[in-house]
Amino acid sequence: MTSDDIEEGSNNTRAINYDESLAITREIHWVGFLEEGSRLRCNPYLLIDGKGDDVILFDPGSIPDFPKVMRKVIDLVPPQKITGIVVSHQDPDVCGNLAVIEDIVENPNLKIYAHLNTIRLIAHLGLVGQLQDIAKIDNRLTLSSGRILDFIPLLYLHSPGAIATLDRQTKSLFSGDVFGAIGTDNDLFSADDFPHSMDSFHQAYMPSNKVLRPAMDMLSGLQIDRILPQHGAVLEGDDVAIAIEHLRRLPCGVDLMEV
Ligand SMILES: [Fe+2]
Ligand SMILES: [Fe+2]
Repeated sequence: MTSDDIEEGSNNTRAINYDESLAITREIHWVGFLEEGSRLRCNPYLLIDGKGDDVILFDPGSIPDFPKVMRKVIDLVPPQKITGIVVSHQDPDVCGNLAVIEDIVENPNLKIYAHLNTIRLIAHLGLVGQLQDIAKIDNRLTLSSGRILDFIPLLYLHSPGAIATLDRQTKSLFSGDVFGAIGTDNDLFSADDFPHSMDSFHQAYMPSNKVLRPAMDMLSGLQIDRILPQHGAVLEGDDVAIAIEHLRRLPCGVDLMEV
């Protein structure tokens, strides 16, 4: 499915076929799915670098997610073409299916990119491939086309090894749990009550505004055209700056505990 298939509905919302993958840009595809009754939709993404030979999968998801995610990936590329998997942190909803993905990909050159604090934990998933500590490649992956992906540590948001990834070419930030949202609103491109749609997830899962605020200050200095979170809605245009400023001020985690 391409953006041409996304039509304006009669109530001014976009009618989207979530049974197919969705092109967010020409080369970045959402390969998630909607799960009836779930309030925490997961968003795996696939980057197919058109100028080179690299295909990068971001946060492929859980074991139960595997068949649906993989069907959408296979509709786009043969799995053997996948050269890298980026893991924002070690949670089961993020990467519980890594071992089976590795099995299907069958690419001996496949690399899994993560922070060392994450690698120590995902090593227990029974993986056989190469785990690449992003610090050892200066937090940067240069694809064969020359396209650069910058890994941005967002430590303790909410995991000690949490990272985001910035695709310099499209200024797209794959943000992991940060900027995520819980809710029944299943639109991938807009959230009811934005930016408050992000509140409950960050209040529950992020440790403190003391950690969140400097991360938002850092992100506000980067050129970001869109944010692709692992949960909730894709944020584009003015919503990027609104989301950053909103989270910069949001009390969360221990800030809300009575001691
Ligand atoms: Fe998480
Ligand atoms: Fe998550």
